[in-house]
Amino acid sequence: MHKIVTLPGDGIGPEIMASALEILQAATAGTDFTYEVTEMPFGGAGIDAKGHPFPEETQAALQTADAILLGAIGGPQWHDASVTPEQGLLQMRALLGLYANVRPVRLADSLVHLSPLKEERVKGTDMVIVRELIGGIYFGKPKYREGDEAFDTMYYNRGMIERIARYAFEVAQTRRGHVTSVDKANVLANSRLWRETVNEVAQDYPDVQVEHLYVDAAAMKLITKPTDFDVILTENLFGDILSDEASVIPGSLGLLPSASISAEQAALYEPIHGSAPDIAGQALANPMSMILSVTMMLRQSFGEEVLADRIEEACQAVMAEGIFTKDLGGQASTTDFTQAVIRKLQEG
Ligand code: NAD
Ligand code: IPM
Ligand code: MN
Repeated sequence: MHKIVTLPGDGIGPEIMASALEILQAATAGTDFTYEVTEMPFGGAGIDAKGHPFPEETQAALQTADAILLGAIGGPQWHDASVTPEQGLLQMRALLGLYANVRPVRLADSLVHLSPLKEERVKGTDMVIVRELIGGIYFGKPKYREGDEAFDTMYYNRGMIERIARYAFEVAQTRRGHVTSVDKANVLANSRLWRETVNEVAQDYPDVQVEHLYVDAAAMKLITKPTDFDVILTENLFGDILSDEASVIPGSLGLLPSASISAEQAALYEPIHGSAPDIAGQALANPMSMILSVTMMLRQSFGEEVLADRIEEACQAVMAEGIFTKDLGGQASTTDFTQAVIRKLQEG
């Protein structure tokens, strides 16, 4: 029995979590994949229920999980909280040691028409962004605001860079064997250490080709020549920004999942987007990002390739029939889409 802890969170988080869990249930009915789900408060919901975005009960539950699913957190009502939902999320990433955030960006041929970009540019896009998740300017000290001055510190050491670089090179070995490391080595000392360390690590992976791009040029090339990328390796903040940008290739932020990997603890799976307060509570959310987070969990935590393929194929088939949510220009509500995927799973 696999133990899955769910953290639905805020805004559209609970809506897309419900959709993905219904689909998981439909896909696993009658199979020997068995699991139990324990839902815990997190983010704004943690503040409302327990006075903290990452309550102690939630911390304890995560220690016993085989895999963790997170919806999304945050919202204007908690911006002035003493510990914000976003700070709670960063605390969780640090506590669990989730150093590698893996964000695949793929565009099925049958769904190329959903991209706002020219078909001939985006057709065949299949890349993975490997974002370092517990270092850089998010975590470096000092970090404070004092009157009219504020400090954030970008910090990496060789060990932190080496660990994420090895992860990215190993991902590349299972793919097309190409790593693009993205930095700002023409300006930042951090990036010069990054580039030097990546080149050292590369020597241990002679079957993987490495190239370096500055982040500004990478941001441009991501949109103009997305098919040139296989694995993108980058630090925390650059990876955050480039991955939202990359969502324009398939057509919506609501399509992109992620996996966050730790050396010691269970992995965590979550959409790359946030709680989308502008559309929350209206059944407008695209649940694909959460559904694909579940299929990443099935593959990476539980080795359930066939189950994951079945779910992904059902979603793709439904979307190819023209059933998709408003973010992609469709008419389907979150529930319409979910039910269509469940019907497709039951047919097949
Ligand atoms: P957002 O990612 O929530 O939304 C950006 C835009 O994308 C919005 O227009 C939204 O409606 C749309 N969108 C996002 N997901 C969608 C989906 N599944 N279907 C359809 N449309 C979708 O970013 P934001 O508005 O800048 O931030 C809102 C809150 O979320 C903030 O509090 C932010 O800090 C937080 N946030 C949390 C996470 C997380 O939980 N990991 C990630 C990013 C932002
Ligand atoms: C993400 C989010 C978070 C980040 C925020 C909410 C702290 O944007 O998961 O991509 O910047 O990492
Ligand atoms: Mn982000």
